[in-house]
Amino acid sequence: MRVSRPARVRATIHVPPDKSVSHRALIFNAVATGRATIERILDSDDVRSTAQCLAALGVPIEWPEGSQVAHVTGQGLHGLFEAEDVLDCGNSGTTMRLLLGLLAGHPILSVLTGDSSLRSRPMGRVIAPLRAMGASLAARRGDTLAPVVVKGGSLRGIAYHSPVASAQVKSAVLLAGLYAEGETAITEPSRSRDHTERLLTAMGAPLAIDGLTVRVRPAERLSAVSVRVPGDISSAAPWLVLGVCHPDAEIVLEGVNVNPTRTGILDILRAMGADLELVEERTSGGEPVADIVVRSSQLRATSVSGELVPRAIDELPLVALAACFAEGTTVVRDASELRVKESDRVKAVVDALGRLGAEIREREDGFEVDGPVRLRGARVHAHGDHRIGMLGAIAGCLAEGETEVLDDAVGVSYRTFWDDLRTATSSEAVSG
Ligand code: S3P
Repeated sequence: MRVSRPARVRATIHVPPDKSVSHRALIFNAVATGRATIERILDSDDVRSTAQCLAALGVPIEWPEGSQVAHVTGQGLHGLFEAEDVLDCGNSGTTMRLLLGLLAGHPILSVLTGDSSLRSRPMGRVIAPLRAMGASLAARRGDTLAPVVVKGGSLRGIAYHSPVASAQVKSAVLLAGLYAEGETAITEPSRSRDHTERLLTAMGAPLAIDGLTVRVRPAERLSAVSVRVPGDISSAAPWLVLGVCHPDAEIVLEGVNVNPTRTGILDILRAMGADLELVEERTSGGEPVADIVVRSSQLRATSVSGELVPRAIDELPLVALAACFAEGTTVVRDASELRVKESDRVKAVVDALGRLGAEIREREDGFEVDGPVRLRGARVHAHGDHRIGMLGAIAGCLAEGETEVLDDAVGVSYRTFWDDLRTATSSEAVSG
């Protein structure tokens, strides 16, 4: 795709449904009692991977191609069948890690694999606690990389201190905990997204939150819960950054999930001086929702670390872009998790923005960016990482000349991204 800078940006965008909530609504309802309707489910490659794996485990899911409504017939907590073949999680870490937790509670054999990106991402972080609970797991490269084989068993609760703030690890352990004898507790170094806690509680799971520790007891049943999925703040983030960095922009983002475990990007942009307004605050699917109005802003550098990092983890590549337009040096640290996402996002961001002329330096645990600079169009490789694809596109809308984005993979989370970019820029900016 080829992108160049539009003279002005005016748009109202109904951002796509939340990916994290869509996965969870499918997975948890699959083992609930009753039938659930998921409205505004995200129709993207990742969520389709989850639906296909669940279908292979015997869960009836009606979700026509292109539809934003899915019906799931819950099989009860113990109702999954052994799949006839390997479960293909595609590009989706959430699918693989959450399913490993769920399958640890089932006395069936499952083999989970994924694309080359997912097969290079760390799985030891879920294998270790699930083994400690009594499940049998084995994986490639010393039990660290997919394909992963899991045979569930009679589990016992553990008190697990996770070395990483990861909602995928937390969710895997909590799902297994629904099947374990006694209490299962997981403590994280800082709070990761809490969609699992919200939805499992709504389904009647015996779950308690105590600071950074979440506890769960074995459940007798989960009640199916119909959900209307709110918009994904991670898919709103490209527009937030385009809006604040472009000199003549006003964008309205409708129906965005503003769950406080996800709003790090709003806090970071506000600290940089962004003109952001939250209006019409309400709730949807057990999550707080608002419309966000964003306008051209004068930005200053900021520093991102600690508890802010998991609250903005998927948006940090876009923070690097915003930092190119901010006065001073922005530092992002404590973010080495970026290196084990769909790509090594520290390297990918430094490479992509570096090609466009950014003053960006790699750190072991993040990056530093000097601003402001004038970006110049160039060829950017996303290497199949959707967040880097969208970063390249937005950077191209802010750079002089033309930017070419290769292997963007935006369909992993945002199939209509290029259409929305055309609309926001009156088609001026996009071709290819
Ligand atoms: C997700 C959790 C995060 C995030 C990912 C989605 C989830 O990953 O980066 O895009 O839905 O639980 P980690 O749990 O690995 O931090």
